[in-house]
Amino acid sequence: MQYVKLGSTGLDVSRVCLGCMTYGLPDRGNHEWTLDEEASRPLIRQALDAGINFFDTANVYSDGTSEEIVGKALRDFANRDEIVLATKVHGRMRPGPNGGGLSRKAIMTEIDHSLRRLGTDYVDLYQIHRYDHETPIEETMEALHDVVKAGKARYIGASSMYAWEFSKAQYTAERHGWTKFVSMQNHYNLLYREEEREMLPLCADQGVGVLPWSPLARGRLTRDWGAVTDRSEHDAFGSRLYSDSDRSIVEAVTRIAGERGVPRAQVALAWLLHQSTVTAPIVGAGKPRHLEDAVAAVELTLSDKEIEELERPYTPHAISGH
Ligand SMILES: NC(=O)c1ccc[n+]([C@@H]2O[C@H](COP(=O)([O-])OP(=O)(O)OC[C@H]3O[C@@H](n4cnc5c(N)ncnc54)[C@H](OP(=O)(O)O)[C@@H]3O)[C@@H](O)[C@H]2O)c1
Repeated sequence: MQYVKLGSTGLDVSRVCLGCMTYGLPDRGNHEWTLDEEASRPLIRQALDAGINFFDTANVYSDGTSEEIVGKALRDFANRDEIVLATKVHGRMRPGPNGGGLSRKAIMTEIDHSLRRLGTDYVDLYQIHRYDHETPIEETMEALHDVVKAGKARYIGASSMYAWEFSKAQYTAERHGWTKFVSMQNHYNLLYREEEREMLPLCADQGVGVLPWSPLARGRLTRDWGAVTDRSEHDAFGSRLYSDSDRSIVEAVTRIAGERGVPRAQVALAWLLHQSTVTAPIVGAGKPRHLEDAVAAVELTLSDKEIEELERPYTPHAISGH
């Protein structure tokens, strides 16, 4: 495994981050395709054995059970000091007032619930899952700063939003001397490259690490267009993200993977790893083979011609995933 600094911080992260949305009780929350604890643990262990030190979950994944499963597995299999553990806040955890969002109350409540479920005193990276348009950004940034100062998070990060929103949040923190975001977790893969317009140049300019989510377009880049799996049949959010116009990109991945004799997932992930702005794609692994391909992709070098062939079919997309 290779390790890089997360943006301009001193934090070492593996070039592959394990996405833990896959792990959680299927009958809790919105993702009925997830793996329960027994099925999840061997994959978390495999990731650690492969040198992956970076794990991403969220309070909202499977109604908190992702954090519980991941936290327990990491306590059992890893040395906490060596692990970079990331979680998120913003999603709705309870019906009614103050059940979600980024108010001071929500953040202070949710960090404590996340730490309890994860079974740890601190998270390494505390990320806002989305922008909260109903809370003043000053309130959110000060609360996040206080979470860091209380020792409950080492760094803070953000996830999908417009570049101007991210910029405003950073500027607000800087003006007040509060902690700034060190990372952007955004929707970025061969089928969705709108982030190249504004967000990625902003992150490069500001030294912000980039952690693409759904780097394999939720599996679409790994198989024939139209092929279905257990997950794809039940992935309501994922079914809204891509369209038939993306088919020719999947065909280009298939062609190059065929020529090289490697699985398509390796080519699609290698393309992301070749983007200078990308720190670590956050991969979803439901099978041992998924992890093997993610790790192998780190060592796969694509030629300029292959990269051009993968990028050529792209056409502008409507914003999705915010
Ligand atoms: N911040 C956000 O808003 C946000 C949003 C989404 C995700 N995330 C994060 O990003 C992580 C990854 O998301 P994701 O699971 O959608 O990512 P992904 O890597 O694009 O998709 C994972 C799916 O791709 C397929 N796959 C993976 N490796 C494969 C291989 N080697 N060969 C064949 N198929 C393969 C599997 O699909 P099948 O199971 O169908 O076979 C797997 O479930 C999440 O766990 C979460 O941490 C964050």
